[in-house]
Amino acid sequence: MRLVRLLLLSVVVILGDNNFDGPALYQITEPVTHAECPTWDSRNNLLYYVDVWPGTIYSYNYTSKELTSITLQGPISPVVPSKSNPNLLIAGIGRTIVAVQWNREDGTYTSKTLLTLAEDKPDSNMNDGKADKEGRIWFGTMDQDADTVNHPDRGTLYKITKNLSSPEVMIAPVNVSNGLVWNKANNKFYYIDSPTQQIAEYDYDDTSGEISNRRVTFYLKDHGLDASPDGMTIDEDDNLWVALYGGGSVIKVNPTTGDLLGRFPIPAESVTSVMWGGPDLDILFITTSRIGLTEEQIMKQPGAGSVFALTNLGTKGVPVFEADIIDSI
Ligand SMILES: *[C@@H]1O[C@H](CO)[C@@H](O)[C@H](O)[C@H]1NC(C)=O
Ligand SMILES: *[C@@H]1O[C@H](CO)[C@@H](O)[C@H](O)[C@H]1NC(C)=O
Ligand SMILES: *[C@@H]1O[C@H](CO)[C@@H](O)[C@H](O)[C@H]1NC(C)=O
Repeated sequence: MRLVRLLLLSVVVILGDNNFDGPALYQITEPVTHAECPTWDSRNNLLYYVDVWPGTIYSYNYTSKELTSITLQGPISPVVPSKSNPNLLIAGIGRTIVAVQWNREDGTYTSKTLLTLAEDKPDSNMNDGKADKEGRIWFGTMDQDADTVNHPDRGTLYKITKNLSSPEVMIAPVNVSNGLVWNKANNKFYYIDSPTQQIAEYDYDDTSGEISNRRVTFYLKDHGLDASPDGMTIDEDDNLWVALYGGGSVIKVNPTTGDLLGRFPIPAESVTSVMWGGPDLDILFITTSRIGLTEEQIMKQPGAGSVFALTNLGTKGVPVFEADIIDSI
C-alpha cells in the first residue's frame, strides 16, 4: 500500500503550537467511489469500511497494511462486527439488516437477511449506524437519491435488539440519518441529521436504551461553516470529531461548551466519516468520496475516495461497541 505523508503546515490546531510533532496526514488506501462507515475491530487490529454502491466491505489489516474485500450487493452501509464473533458482521443493505459471516481462510462469505426496515418508505436506504454498549444496533435511513428537497423526511433512526421482530423508531422523521455516538459516561447521545447542519445532544439511558431532551449543541453556520456534517466519533476527552461532506475537513468540537476546537483539512472535499483506530486508538481514520466529482475535480483531488489516517492529534478514541443481536448465522 502507498503511504503518503501529506500536509503538515496547513493543519490548523488550536491547542498547542505548530511543531514537528504536530498532526500528520497519510493516505493509506487507493480511492474507491464512496468510502463510508469506518469501524475499528481491536480484536484483530482491522479497520473496516465500505464502498457503498458496489456493496463492497473492505478490511484493512493494520499490521500487514493488507487490504481485503468481499462484495455483496449495494448499497451497503454501515458494517458493525459482532461481539460473539469478529468475522460476523452486521450490515445495512438497501432497507435490510444482513448478517455476513466472512470466512477469512478462503475469502468467501455467507449472508442472511435478518429484517427489513422502513416498509413505509420504500425509496429509502440504510445509512450510518453503530452498536451501543449493550450491543443493540442503531441504524438510520435516508432518501435513496439524497434529494431531501423533493423527497423530504424519508429518514428514520431505528434501534434493533436481539428481538429482531421489534425494531424501534428512535428519531423520525429525519432527512439524512448520519453520525451518532455516545459519551464516555454513556449518559449522552450525539446525533447528526446532515441537512440540519447541527449536532444534536440527547440524554441517554443505557438500561432502557432510550433517548430524551433533544437540544442543539453545535450549529455549523454559527461558526462560519457551510457543509454537511456526516460521520462522527468521540475522543477520550468527550470531544466530537466530525467529517464535513462538502467541507474538505474534519472538525473537533467540544459539545459541552459548543466551541470549535480545530479544523483539519483533508485533500478531498467530500469527507464522509471518521473513526479512531490503531493498537493505541490514537489514529483517526477518515473515509472520503469521489461521487459526483468531475474529471477535472478528481485531477485536483486525486485522493478523493480513499482512506486517510491523521496522527499525532494529542488525544485518542475510546473502543467502539460490538453488535450483539445474533450469535451466528
Ligand atoms: C494481519 O496481518 C498479520 C501480519 O501479517 C497477520 O498475522 C494477521 O493474521 C492478519 N490478521 C487478519 C485478521 O487477517
Ligand atoms: C419480541 O417483539 C414482539 C413484537 O413487538 C413481541 O410480541 C414479543 O413479545 C417480543 N419477544 C420478546 C422475547 O421480548
Ligand atoms: C427535511 O428537509 C425538508 C426540505 O429541506 C425540510 O422542509 C424538512 O423540515 C426537513 N425535515 C427535518 C425533520 O428536518
